[in-house]
Amino acid sequence: MASKGPLHSKENVKTAKAAIAPPEKPQPSREEKKKKWTLEDFEIGRPLGKGKFGNVYLAREKTTKYIVAMKVLSKTQLKSGHFEHQLRREIEIQSHLRHPNILRLFGYFYDTTRVYLILEYAPQGELYKALRAERKFDEKKSATFVAQLADALKYCHSKKVIHRDIKPENLLLGNNGELKIADFGWSVHSPSSRRETLCGTLDYLPPEMIEGRTHDEKVDLWSVGVLCYELLTGSPPFETKSHSDTYKKICRIDVHFPAHVSPGAKDLIMRLLRHDPKERLSLDRVLTHPWIREHADVASLVVHKRK
Ligand code: ADE
Repeated sequence: MASKGPLHSKENVKTAKAAIAPPEKPQPSREEKKKKWTLEDFEIGRPLGKGKFGNVYLAREKTTKYIVAMKVLSKTQLKSGHFEHQLRREIEIQSHLRHPNILRLFGYFYDTTRVYLILEYAPQGELYKALRAERKFDEKKSATFVAQLADALKYCHSKKVIHRDIKPENLLLGNNGELKIADFGWSVHSPSSRRETLCGTLDYLPPEMIEGRTHDEKVDLWSVGVLCYELLTGSPPFETKSHSDTYKKICRIDVHFPAHVSPGAKDLIMRLLRHDPKERLSLDRVLTHPWIREHADVASLVVHKRK
C-alpha cells in the first residue's frame, strides 16, 4: 500500500477489548509491516464496468468493511498489448495524486494471472452514462463539471503530470455527483515527445498529438474545450463516421454550435480550441471565465489542503 488512508492498516482497527485494555504501544501500521494485499482480503461484489483489459468490481475489505472498486486486469492481455509499461506508469502517477476530483488509487497486488488495482469507489458511476441518459446537460451542470475538471487538472499540471485522455468515459461521479478523473493509463510527465500508437477515437485529441509532435500539458486544455462542447450538446464537436474526416475537422477546427449554446459557452470553448497550444486559455483563466463564474456551482470546488 503506497499511502495512508482507510485501507492503510488492518492492525489498528479498534475493538471493544482495546477500549478497556491498558494503553498499548502504538502498533506498526500495515505500511510499516510491508504487508501485501491479496484477493483473500476482499469480498468481491457486482461488476461496475468493463474495460479493455478486464473488469471493475465493487469490493469490500474484510476487516475494515471499507468499500472500494477493484479493477482486475488480465496479465496475458496486458502482455500481448504491450501495456505493462503503461500500467506501471498509471500506478506510479495515480497513487501519488491527492485531489477531491481525482479518483484515488489505494494500492495494487497481483497473482499468477491477474493484476488488481484497489481504487476509490465512485458511487454515482460513469459520467458517460449520466450524459447519455440525460442526452445533454444544462449550463449549470456543464459549467460545474468544467470547473471541477479544470481544478483537478491544475493540480496534475502543478506536478508536471499531463492526463492526455480526458473524455466522458474516463470521468466518474462521486457521492455528491462531483467529477472524479479516473484512468491515468495515458498520462505522462510533461513535456512528452513519445509517439505512442493512438488507439480508439480521435475525438478528444488536439492537432499536435494526432500529428505526433512534441506536446505538453496544454493538450489537456484542448480536451477541456471538447468536453465542454459535449456536455452542452451531447456529442463531441469533431465527430464523424471516419477517422480521416475527424482528423481533418480537428486540424481545421471545424466547429458548429447548435442554436441553444449560449455566447458565453461558445466563447470559452473557442478560447480552448486553438491550434497553437500557447494561445489556449490557461486553467486559471478557465476558472475565472465569465461563463464559468456565472453558471458553475463554486461550492462544489472543495477547499482542499495542498502539500
Ligand atoms: N466504474 C468503473 N470504475 C468505477 C469506480 N471506481 N467506481 C464506480 N464505478 C466505476
